[in-house]
Amino acid sequence: MRVNLSDTKLFVEQAGRGQPLLLIHGFPFNHEMWRPQIEILAGNSKIIAPDLRGHGQSPPTPGPYSMDVLADDCASVLEKLGVQQPVTVCGLSMGGYVSFAFFRRYPQLVAGLILVATRSGADAEEAKKNRDIAAEKVRTEGTQPVIESMLPIAMSPTTYQKQTDLVQQVEGIMQKTTPEGLISALMGMKSRPDSTPTLDKITVPTLILHGADDQIIPTSEAEAMHAAIQGSQFIIVPDAGHLPNLEQPQIFNQAVDGFLAGLKV
Ligand code: MLT
Repeated sequence: MRVNLSDTKLFVEQAGRGQPLLLIHGFPFNHEMWRPQIEILAGNSKIIAPDLRGHGQSPPTPGPYSMDVLADDCASVLEKLGVQQPVTVCGLSMGGYVSFAFFRRYPQLVAGLILVATRSGADAEEAKKNRDIAAEKVRTEGTQPVIESMLPIAMSPTTYQKQTDLVQQVEGIMQKTTPEGLISALMGMKSRPDSTPTLDKITVPTLILHGADDQIIPTSEAEAMHAAIQGSQFIIVPDAGHLPNLEQPQIFNQAVDGFLAGLKV
C-alpha cells in the first residue's frame, strides 16, 4: 500500500498480525530484501516494511536524506497505519543507522532493537570521499556502475559464487533505486552522526546479527556494539556476508523469532 506523508508518498509492505516489527532496509535496497522474513515472520508478527524515499516503489525527493529524515518517515508511517504500541525496530546496515536515529527521536516507540550488519560509527574521512566519488559516478554514468561495484561484496564470496539466483535477485532489487535516491542516501549517510554515544543509553532488549564474512562492515564493529549495549544478544551468522537475512534466511529467522518470543514474556 501507499502511505501519504507531508511531502511524499511511501510504499509500505504489510503482512501478518501480532507484535509490530518494523523492517528498515539497507542501501541501495528496498522492502523486497526482506522477502524471506515477510514470508516467515508474519506468522507471529505484524510486519511493516517501508521502501525508504527514493528506493524501490517510493519516489525520490530532493536530498540529502539524513538518517533523521528517514527515521521521521518511519515514525509517520507507523502513525498513519494506526500503530500505537511500541515496535521492534530491525534495521540492516543503513537501516541500522536509521534505527539509531529512530531510537534517539522516538524512544517511547521502541520495544526492542535488531541491529543487522551495521555499525554505530560515523563515516571516516576516506569513506566520505568514497561517497562523493560514488555520487559523481551516478550523476555521470547512472546507477549501474555503483551497483556492479557493490554487488560482489554485498554477499560472502561463497554466496556470490554459488547462489547465482540470489545474486541476480539482489541486483534486481538494487536496480529499482533511482539515481536521485541513491545520491541522496549516499549524502545522508556521509553526514550521519556518530551513534556510539547512543549505545549505552539503549535499555530495550537488543539483538545484534552479523554475517561472519561481511566484507562491507567488519564483525569487530558488531562486537564493539555488543560490548557497549548492556544485555545485548550477539549472533554471528555463519556462511553469510552483508545480507545474512537473504544468505542464511533460516538461521536469521530463527534468531529473530526467538528474540521476539522473549520480548512477549
Ligand atoms: C548498506 O548496506 O546499507 C550500506 O552498505 C551502508 C553503507 O554504505 O554504509
